Amino acid sequence: MMPRLILLIACVLVPTFAIAGEAAPNKTIIAHRGASGYLPEHTLEAYSYAYALGADYIEPDLVLTKDKVFICLHDIHLEATTNVEEVFPDRHREDGKWYAADFTLEEIKRLSAHERVEGRFPKTGPRMEVPTFEEFLQLIRGLNASTGRTAGIYPELKQPAWHRAAGLPMETAFLEILARYGYTGPHARIFIQCFEAECLKRMRLELKSDLPQIQVMGSGDDAAAMLSEEGLKRIAEYAQGVGPAKAAIEKDPAAVARAHAAGLLVHVYTFRVDDVPASYTSFEDEVRTFLDVYGADGVWTDYPDRALRCVGRPAKP
Ligand code: G3P
Ligand code: CA
Repeated sequence: MMPRLILLIACVLVPTFAIAGEAAPNKTIIAHRGASGYLPEHTLEAYSYAYALGADYIEPDLVLTKDKVFICLHDIHLEATTNVEEVFPDRHREDGKWYAADFTLEEIKRLSAHERVEGRFPKTGPRMEVPTFEEFLQLIRGLNASTGRTAGIYPELKQPAWHRAAGLPMETAFLEILARYGYTGPHARIFIQCFEAECLKRMRLELKSDLPQIQVMGSGDDAAAMLSEEGLKRIAEYAQGVGPAKAAIEKDPAAVARAHAAGLLVHVYTFRVDDVPASYTSFEDEVRTFLDVYGADGVWTDYPDRALRCVGRPAKP
């Protein structure tokens, strides 16, 4: 746990926050890779469950196949969350990894997605596919129509510079798909996220997208520079918010107030019931500390139902 003194200073520096433990109903709860605490990440099943649990936004991470189709996958490699090693035993590169960019969509669709994390959904569960981004968009559109809710989407472009170097530029094709599904303009219920500033700048400044964007970042020196007053001013030129790793805010709680002063939202990742740091007494303690003490505007979580309860908005039966 951070020293109590620093925590107290954080409370003083960020005066708009309530004390830890109070409900914060206006916070944004983002289903990280779907409801990935309960079902294998980045499957239509995990996205559907996240929707049913009431998540405000649902996150697909995106990579491209060899035939330039966006698929929902966290890694540029396939082996951590699919049975690619069994289905295509010889199709790895010299580094021993199976790259999604080496497979066509038809080949990807022959794979089964499985759980990444030990102790969650059994790895030998029922067959689930790797979805395309369009299937994800159709799912959310369908659920929004059938429920009358309007859940948002929070897609992340994974390693766009790597994809570009591989002859698979992402940005233009991505914005075209979004436009086809009605995601246009600054009020669309979407946040586009990327760790690479160049990608976000390209979409905003070259491709003239006015969709909401979030600059995600880790917790090292790069993130500290991005969270400086100057860094945040630069981000505000092409994004609506920042998405730091938890540790970046723990090291520098005043970054939240600086981001707000720059007109930026702060969404923090990633909160997990089965991976609560020893410095917190519970998942709820950790979530409330970030939302109510540090003043973050939202959290990515594998357990959206538990986070929604923290902010006084449990999923309705
Ligand atoms: O995108 C921000 C959040 O999702 C954390 O990153 O590695 O889980 O995609 P990652
Ligand atoms: Ca992500």
